[in-house]
Amino acid sequence: MTTAFQFQEWVNAHSERTERALECLLDSESTVPQRLHEAMRYAAQGGGKRIRPLLVYAAGQLGKGVEAENAEILDAAAVAIECIHAYSLVHDDLPCMDDDDLRRGRPTVHKAFDEATALLVGDALQTRAFELLANVHGDAEVRLRMISALAAASGSRGMAGGQAIDLESVGKKLDLAGLKQMHAMKTGALLSCAVELGGIAAQLQNSQMEQLERYSKALGLAFQIVDDVLDATADSQTLGKTAGKDAANDKPTYVTLMGLDYAQKQAKELQETAIASLDGFGEQAQALKDLALLVVNRGK
Ligand code: IPE
Ligand code: IPE
Ligand code: MG
Ligand code: MG
Ligand code: MG
Repeated sequence: MTTAFQFQEWVNAHSERTERALECLLDSESTVPQRLHEAMRYAAQGGGKRIRPLLVYAAGQLGKGVEAENAEILDAAAVAIECIHAYSLVHDDLPCMDDDDLRRGRPTVHKAFDEATALLVGDALQTRAFELLANVHGDAEVRLRMISALAAASGSRGMAGGQAIDLESVGKKLDLAGLKQMHAMKTGALLSCAVELGGIAAQLQNSQMEQLERYSKALGLAFQIVDDVLDATADSQTLGKTAGKDAANDKPTYVTLMGLDYAQKQAKELQETAIASLDGFGEQAQALKDLALLVVNRGK
């Protein structure tokens, strides 16, 4: 008899695995310079939903039986992508960007430490991510493909580029295509990369990687639409970050451009597209499917 897939148990187990991997793979607070390492841990370990690591693990279990063989490389990939994400949040919160005081229910890094430390935390988390992938045990070609994917997703054609468009767009009205492009870059790129890293570790065929790409592109856009919706509808305590910040900073968002109802419908449609993209993977893709539901329904 096969037991039904228990998503919540899977999430709990893989969230704990992420915390253990972060604990193990980040430098300790006693490493010189202690204050920088303390701030790096503060940025990376202070909660968060760990969606990107969960996507790495979920895609990593698609290849038959490979998850156990690939445990170390998946842990490195999960931590690497979370390091890049944590760095992007630390910089996103700086006064020269979104100027936020609250992140994951705690003072932002530049408030808890100082601005220069926050800059360096971002720099050092970024390089730590690539160091981890370069040094983990495993097939050299797999590691090289991962490094290349993470670099492309993080840089000027990915997250950093999307953040540049975000800042250029303050006070302006983007059209829908422009808004989608910004979202795809600033948020979608890293989410897609998380799925891609899992797929690379699982050594999936090209056609399967294309399916994963369709899934993650839809999921990435849905993720930022939901982030925009929650910014406009939830409270700071629930979010763990300042609510209403997009309106306060005069940012174009899905909510300001298309309205709340359209944004919510669009997120739901994208969720369906994401799930449909996984046809043919069978039961092993259940975690990815359930993650799409989790992303779109969070906050409800
Ligand atoms: C927030 O990401 C920033 C965006 C890209 C929208 P998350 O909502 O994944 O933040 P954490 O990691 O759970 O704090
Ligand atoms: C940030 O988008 C995307 C990043 C690359 C960090 P937001 O500015 O909307 O993220 P939050 O709402 O501050 O988490
Ligand atoms: Mg921002
Ligand atoms: Mg922000
Ligand atoms: Mg936001």
